[in-house]
Amino acid sequence: MESIDNALHIGRVPVRAIARAYGTPTYVYDEQRIRANYARVVAAFRAHYPDFRLYYAIKANDNLAIAAIVTGEGAGIDAASVNEILLAKELGLDGERVIFSGNYLSDEDIVLGLESGVTFNLDDPSLLPRVLRFGKPDLISFRVNPGYGRSNVGDFVTNAGPNAKFGVHPDQVLDAYRAARDAGIRRFGVHMMPGSCVTDAAYFPFVTGLLMDIVGKVGVTLGIGFEFVDIGGGLGIPYRPDEMPLDLERAAQAAVEVFRAKIAQYRLAPPRLVLEPGRAIVGDAGWIVGTVHSIKRGYATIVGTDVSFNVLVRPALYGAYHGIRVDGKENGPRARFGLCGQLCENTDYWVRDRELPADIAEGDIIVVENAGAYGYAMSFRYNGRLRPAEVLVNGATHELIRAREGFEDMTRGVRIPARLR
Ligand code: LLP
Repeated sequence: MESIDNALHIGRVPVRAIARAYGTPTYVYDEQRIRANYARVVAAFRAHYPDFRLYYAIKANDNLAIAAIVTGEGAGIDAASVNEILLAKELGLDGERVIFSGNYLSDEDIVLGLESGVTFNLDDPSLLPRVLRFGKPDLISFRVNPGYGRSNVGDFVTNAGPNAKFGVHPDQVLDAYRAARDAGIRRFGVHMMPGSCVTDAAYFPFVTGLLMDIVGKVGVTLGIGFEFVDIGGGLGIPYRPDEMPLDLERAAQAAVEVFRAKIAQYRLAPPRLVLEPGRAIVGDAGWIVGTVHSIKRGYATIVGTDVSFNVLVRPALYGAYHGIRVDGKENGPRARFGLCGQLCENTDYWVRDRELPADIAEGDIIVVENAGAYGYAMSFRYNGRLRPAEVLVNGATHELIRAREGFEDMTRGVRIPARLR
């Protein structure tokens, strides 16, 4: 997003034009930015390890138009549930272009997952006998919890380490693969998800080394090969103005160096290297365009907007920070304000003290930054406040990619038993 003649633009579209055309709050994505993010991540890894593949973690943003951009560039899909597998199928992806990393799966998940024919990534050894009851997949992967987890967003978002609910304990990995081999499975992969929103480049080679030591020992002991090693997602983006961006090229180079060294050390046949980022592809390519509806000057001065926590839950849920810009008022004097949405809960007072334009006023258009990942995907309905619209910008064009919810969504599927009428 840039300010041109004191007007905020996403791509070459003024945010004011978006607000006029679609109303607010509205999620807006920049197609060119998504393509550039994808290209940069792939280039960073492929430069050092050509047999590299990216699976887009569709949970970050599951609008099919957004996913179609990424899969159109060549990505596979990392699916967390059967319904996410079905989203991948809508885009024509299946088989080994989809990896299913659900956790605590039901029997129904397992059956539908097997039927779908995608790559199964098991979160626990106890899943293997349950899977085998229904069928024998060609290829099995286990999600390893290497004992470390990291996230700039805080402990709630840590996907590995001793406090996480995810993955196979390192001491159980060998037996897990042995059981799979003894059951006649012949093709193997391995997976970890060691963090989310990590901007420390050194972390990626560190955890890759931990995983590869486990992989190496399993490979040598059982005499099995690994077709792929999936080192997860987790590439971070800066949310706060003072945060340093991840040095992606350095992270990729160092992770590949460790990867190659461990392959040599354990004399493994070189596996494909897989990464499954979400945030790094779409996070900084999405914004929320909102409106200031009223300003209260009471105990504090609070700017009331239509960006409520049902629209963007990250601040209320994690204390996460999102930058806020005000259209047309970027260059004047600034003052400190609180800012909130319209819901009847005080977690909706999601900015307590922020420097904003001193002349911010009713009717102003605000833009919330870095909302492309875990934004709309985690939105919900509450207080009769509905999910927003989603719009895709490509250069100077803009198109609706998901309609704003309407009242019909509040009653869809609801039945009032006759005796209550
Ligand atoms: N793979 C698996 C198995 C995952 O669980 C996740 C994210 C990813 C890949 C993609 O991670 P990324 O590259 O986006 O970090 N709602 C939180 C983030 C939760 C991440 C959950 N898993 C947030 O808003 O920060």
